[in-house]
Amino acid sequence: MTRTVYLNGEYLPETEAKVSIFDRGFLMADGVYEVTSVLGGKLIDFEGHAVRLARSLGELEMANPVSKDELLEIHRELVAKNEIVDGLVYLQITRGAPGDRDFVFPDPETTAPTIVLFTQNKPGLDKDPKAAKGTKIVTVPDIRWHRRDIKTVQLLYPSMAKMMAKKAGCDDAWLVEDGFVTEGSSNNAYIVKGGKIITRALSNDILHGITRAAVLRFAKEAQMEVVERNFTVEEAKEADEAFTTSASAFVMPVVEIDGVALGDGAPGAVSKRLREIYLDESLKTAI
Ligand code: PDD
Repeated sequence: MTRTVYLNGEYLPETEAKVSIFDRGFLMADGVYEVTSVLGGKLIDFEGHAVRLARSLGELEMANPVSKDELLEIHRELVAKNEIVDGLVYLQITRGAPGDRDFVFPDPETTAPTIVLFTQNKPGLDKDPKAAKGTKIVTVPDIRWHRRDIKTVQLLYPSMAKMMAKKAGCDDAWLVEDGFVTEGSSNNAYIVKGGKIITRALSNDILHGITRAAVLRFAKEAQMEVVERNFTVEEAKEADEAFTTSASAFVMPVVEIDGVALGDGAPGAVSKRLREIYLDESLKTAI
C-alpha cells in the first residue's frame, strides 16, 4: 500500500512528496523530530510529544509552523488515511530550504520551515517478543554534542552505536560519558537495585523522554522508589535488573550488559510490572 504522507500542508502519496536538495535538514541536519506511538488506532502521550517539539524548536529559534490542535489533527488524519492500528507517527520540522547552502540561518520571513509527517505500520507493536526475552546491551562512548535535550535529526552517531551493538551481537547500545551511562542510543536507561529504580537526572546530557516522565510518575504512584542520579557501567552490571524506555519500545527489559547477565538473566519483576502499568495507563489516556 502506498502511504499517504503529510508535507507542508498537503496530504500526498509518499511517491509524490518531494523536498528540495537545499533543505537544511538534508544539508545541515538543521531540524527536529518526534516519534509518537499508536496503539489500537490511538496516539500515546501525544501532549508530551507536542510540548517537547515546541521546546526543541524554541531552543533552536526555529518557527513552529503548526498549532498543537493542527498537529493533533494531522496525526489523526494520517493514522486514519493509512489505517494504522499499531505503529508510529514520525514528524520532522526543518529550518526549510533557502535555495542555496549557507551556514548562517536563513531569514524566517523568506524561508518557511519544512514539515513532514509519515506513519509506520507496526502491527503488535506492544507485543514485541523481545520484551519477554529481554535485550542485550553493549556500552560505547557517548561522543554526541552537548545539547542532547533537543531532539534533533543529527542521528549519525546513534546509528553508528546501533551498528556497534549489532556487530557485538547485541540489541542496542548504552552511551557512556566520564564513566557514567547517559542514555541508550534511542531510549532512556535505568537500573534497578534493591527495589530502587535508578536513572540519570534530567539535564542537557540526555533527551527528556516522554515515556520516561510517564513511567517515573506511574512508578511513584505504585509506591516504587525512584532515584534520579548518575550510575556507572560497573554499577549497572551489578544491578538486579535494567530496562530502557522510549515511545517506540515502551518499557524494554535489559538482561545483559557487556556480556554480563543481570540477576537470573531473565527480565526482572520491576521492569515487567512497569511495562504492564505503562501500557495499561497510557492506553487509558490515548487520544
Ligand atoms: N527515540 N533518548 C534518546 C537519545 C532518544 O532518541 C529517545 C527516543 C529517547 C526516549 O524518548 P521518548 O520516551 O520521548 O521516546 C531517549 C525515538 C523513539 C526515536 O528516535 O525513534
